[in-house]
Amino acid sequence: MTANPPTVTARRSPVSQKAQRFTESVIREMTRMAFDHGAINLAQGFPDFPAPEAVKEAAVEAIRADNNQYEITWGAREFRRAVAARFVRDTGLEVDPEREMTVCCGATETMIATLLAIIDPGDEVVVFEPFYENYGPDAIICGAVARHVRLHPPDWNFDPQELAAAFTDRTRAVIVNTPNNPTGKVFTREELGLIAEQCQRTGAYAITDEIYQYLTYDGFQHVPLVTLPGMRERTVTINAMSKTYSVTGWRVGYAIAPPEVSNAIRKMHDFLTVGAPAPLQEAGVTALKFPDEYYRQLCERYRLRRDRMLAGLEEAGFRCFRPHGAYYIMTDISAFGFPNDVEFARHLVRDIGIAVVPGSSFYRDPASGAQQVRFAYCKKDSTLDEALVRLQKLKANGSV
Ligand SMILES: Cc1ncc(COP(=O)(O)O)c(C=O)c1O
Repeated sequence: MTANPPTVTARRSPVSQKAQRFTESVIREMTRMAFDHGAINLAQGFPDFPAPEAVKEAAVEAIRADNNQYEITWGAREFRRAVAARFVRDTGLEVDPEREMTVCCGATETMIATLLAIIDPGDEVVVFEPFYENYGPDAIICGAVARHVRLHPPDWNFDPQELAAAFTDRTRAVIVNTPNNPTGKVFTREELGLIAEQCQRTGAYAITDEIYQYLTYDGFQHVPLVTLPGMRERTVTINAMSKTYSVTGWRVGYAIAPPEVSNAIRKMHDFLTVGAPAPLQEAGVTALKFPDEYYRQLCERYRLRRDRMLAGLEEAGFRCFRPHGAYYIMTDISAFGFPNDVEFARHLVRDIGIAVVPGSSFYRDPASGAQQVRFAYCKKDSTLDEALVRLQKLKANGSV
């Protein structure tokens, strides 16, 4: 008996080539492992402390008042106005909330909608490495080729020549995340100037991810790239409520971009998700009107957490790359003598009771992050205290 020739459907992979090119998020996998092992989750960057009372109240009120249907797809008018008012305070730049803003479901959707709006398959996107893990899959989804520029520890500086070489005549955009996840780097005005120069030389857009904009320490200041000369018309500024108001589950983010680009982002966003949650945008108006003191206190509380974690991690044998922004600490784990970051992270979650992110998930080549892990410290004092107690069980090589 001769076998039937395979059918076309049998020969094909059940999933798309794009879906085969990236794996599930390592960070969210670590969160699940933390749950399974009863470990403290210092992997995923979400606060375990309450969101501001006034913001929660505003959301409850909005739902009670029946703000429960679709909003304008590109964002509730009042929310966009509040974002524009905050933006002018932060940058000195006036934006038109009717033509230059799109509200999406978190910074995550905002980034993919932006890339889909400006990228054609084969276009190149410059990404700094180590990177926030979403940017790789984002590039794949929109058919872009990622070109990487290395940030070098301990200060996570880049080589201007490597930057210039990464920009080619196919470069369509550069993604700049400052303050940076995972490194805690805050890009200086001078560094941003070098990036702006390359954008102007090649006609590329800068897409900034400024979700940690209010979290800078040690006198470092956040500089919005859009404020640099000549960058107003070639920057898409992305931000979200997630981190600033401790509401990562609300899924409200936004892009500020020139009208033509905003128009394209709005179209992508409309057909991806229709709109961000209506009542939570209404609550966002309350949040965005918080006085400057709110942001000062938020930052100071995070600085205290950072300092406590730095001290505890160093005592436990980690070499820490001191972050000047955001709420993560990248560490060097060589002192513990593990062959790689994944084995060390498994040991931490199973035997010590702490989940972290293996450093390799922030690099193309796993070897580059094989002796690094990232800790998130956006947690209550009591959570951090318990984590530091557990870390004392760790033994660095050579210690007693
Ligand atoms: C740099 C960066 N961008 C975006 C996000 C996700 O933002 P959102 O929750 O608003 O989608 C995160 C979350 O950790 C992040 O670290």
